[in-house]
Amino acid sequence: MRSIATLLQLVCLLLSLHRSPCSGAAATASNFSSCLVSNGVSNFSLPTSPSYAGLLNSSIFNLRFTLPNVAGPAAIVLPESRDDLRRAILCARARSLAIRVRSGGHSYEGLSYTTENHVPFVVVDLTNLNRVRVDPGSATAWAESGATVGELYYAVGRSSRSLAFPAGSGSTTGLGGHVSGGGFGLLSRKFGLAADNVLDAALITPDGTVLDRSSMGDDVFWAIRGGGGGSWGVVYAWKLRLVPVPRNVTAFAVGRTGPVELFAGLLHRWQHVGPNLPDEFYLSVYAPTGSTDGNVSISFTGQVLASKDHALSVLSQSFPELGLTERHLSEMSWVESTAKFAGLGTVEDLVNRRRQPKQYSKSKSDYVQAPISRHDMAEIVRHLSTGPTGSIQLDPYGGAMARVGSSETPFPHRAGYLYSIQYGVNWDRSQVAHAEEFIGWLGSFYRFMAPYVSKDPRAAYVNYLDLDLGVNNWTRAAGGSSAQAVARARSSWGEAYFGENFGRLVRAKTVADPGNVFNNAQSIPPLNIRAEE
Ligand SMILES: Cc1cc2nc3c(=O)[nH]c(=O)nc-3n(C[C@H](O)[C@H](O)[C@H](O)COP(=O)(O)OP(=O)(O)OC[C@H]3O[C@@H](n4cnc5c(N)ncnc54)[C@H](O)[C@@H]3O)c2cc1C
Ligand SMILES: *[C@@H]1O[C@H](CO)[C@@H](O)[C@H](O)[C@H]1NC(C)=O
Ligand SMILES: *[C@@H]1O[C@H](CO)[C@@H](O)[C@H](O)[C@H]1NC(C)=O
Ligand SMILES: *[C@@H]1O[C@H](CO)[C@@H](O)[C@H](O)[C@H]1NC(C)=O
Ligand SMILES: *[C@@H]1O[C@H](CO)[C@@H](O)[C@H](O)[C@H]1NC(C)=O
Ligand SMILES: *[C@@H]1O[C@H](CO)[C@@H](O)[C@H](O)[C@H]1NC(C)=O
Ligand SMILES: *[C@@H]1O[C@H](CO)[C@@H](O)[C@H](O)[C@H]1NC(C)=O
Repeated sequence: MRSIATLLQLVCLLLSLHRSPCSGAAATASNFSSCLVSNGVSNFSLPTSPSYAGLLNSSIFNLRFTLPNVAGPAAIVLPESRDDLRRAILCARARSLAIRVRSGGHSYEGLSYTTENHVPFVVVDLTNLNRVRVDPGSATAWAESGATVGELYYAVGRSSRSLAFPAGSGSTTGLGGHVSGGGFGLLSRKFGLAADNVLDAALITPDGTVLDRSSMGDDVFWAIRGGGGGSWGVVYAWKLRLVPVPRNVTAFAVGRTGPVELFAGLLHRWQHVGPNLPDEFYLSVYAPTGSTDGNVSISFTGQVLASKDHALSVLSQSFPELGLTERHLSEMSWVESTAKFAGLGTVEDLVNRRRQPKQYSKSKSDYVQAPISRHDMAEIVRHLSTGPTGSIQLDPYGGAMARVGSSETPFPHRAGYLYSIQYGVNWDRSQVAHAEEFIGWLGSFYRFMAPYVSKDPRAAYVNYLDLDLGVNNWTRAAGGSSAQAVARARSSWGEAYFGENFGRLVRAKTVADPGNVFNNAQSIPPLNIRAEE
């Protein structure tokens, strides 16, 4: 313990911690581990431990947050049970350490393993809480939050060829963060978001109580299904409604390369097709930035809950310009299609938590409510072709997405939203020195897009977290709050992510966590707390 204290003293000296005197911070951290030990929580790692760096790294998806200027936690705790998880929360609170809960570690802005203003914190990593229990008879599943999307899909696929779950396409994304923020995927036009298919949940409160749907109350159960991770408590597990799919689905990917005009024409047409196809059809667009000798490329990804023949007859009629032919299409089970869309070789790879390649990246998002003209689309494509390494992804809404009311869940982008845009730039280790330049280009492209996308507010998707929209800037473990903090959150990211639902989220937060124990740079602030310190 002595060497830990010395190290922490050194660390806090280097970070020149505000407010808490350094000796206090060191003692607090070593007291944290003694609290864990005396409560029987045995799997944790301190900065002095040889396992610490590897565990911290293990699920950091965005390498931007592995750089040496990012302060690490005072400890990483890996609960093995729900009780371990409760006790870890209580020990962190008792020692005034901020809590960062991590499920898959895929937060675009690293919010599951960083704090603002060097506030000392612990990471509670749910990697070991990844059990999934499927009941095919009732078409439901209980999944611990530390399970990945891939682990869930694998378990569902094993239980039945004709059941599925509508969630995202990345296999290593964690259910804790993903479902908390909504969770859009290839089945969402037919069945809505992951969060639309949550039947119940086990939520651990700031005082370590475990609540279910009825004991947490309507506002809180509403808030945890799309109001973003990290604000409400820790979701230990979700009860999910599984959905029926055919024994074979049809999958395809069509790539095209050509001049800007060709590309703009295809994109322009897609806007009228993608959001209006029957619910069984998902057809998205992915386009890398840059160009080769004046040519740009684009690819269309599709999943159809029907046979190849049906997919071909509908798409060749509604979108002949796509040039889809029989050879593009394959039939396979739904779970095989999830492996394919995650870029994996086999269905077994779905349970490999290390499978997806990591990168340095920055992303932003937008929504389109009125089709962009062909002329403007060409301007956009030209702009895109000048960018550094990156991409845009357009996801079609409509169908079930548009049938859920905009206040039924915190996720408000429903009827009237044609498609989402996700912009990203990424780079590798050798280009770290250019990061600011790449991020700057992304910012300029985002400004360029303003006339073409939703306005007042300019909407964004909370799972595509973007701190450029604004931050809370908490300076304490339990963040505090104030009327100004609420107003700032509302007008920067609050309305962008949640529209008119922001007010109800603040009310739910004030019930669930009035002391703001569960906070982060873009968490929902509670009302009725006077001083923001
Ligand atoms: C490769 C990749 C692919 C993606 N694909 C999609 C996609 O297809 N569709 C889509 O909608 N999104 C997608 N996303 C975005 C993804 O849904 C979000 O980044 C999501 O928040 C990640 O969840 P996580 O548990 O992996 O992240 P984490 O970083 O662990 O957590 C994210 C946030 O949730 C909080 N949190 C984590 N666990 C819990 C819990 N148990 N209880 C309460 N709060 C918790 C964290 O504290 C943090 O604030 C993708 C992201 C990546 C990197
Ligand atoms: C740490 O724990 C010891 C013994 O339990 C106690 O005497 C001491 O006051 C604690 N220190 C802090 C900073 O909490
Ligand atoms: C703690 O959990 C991690 C992640 O699963 C595992 O690698 C490690 O072996 C565990 N350590 C102990 C002491 O159980
Ligand atoms: C953590 O990840 C970074 C980036 O991939 C790597 O440079 C570093 O060596 C890793 N550290 C450990 C201990 O795994
Ligand atoms: C550009 O694309 C067209 C097809 O649209 C192709 O004929 C031509 O060879 C491509 N040019 C280059 C330089 O790749
Ligand atoms: C699914 O499609 C494959 C490939 O076309 C075919 O071999 C298989 O028989 C189909 N399975 C079912 C259950 O329809
Ligand atoms: C955040 O708070 C810190 C400490 O009070 C302050 O130095 C910094 O300027 C603030 N940043 C923003 C963006 O408000």
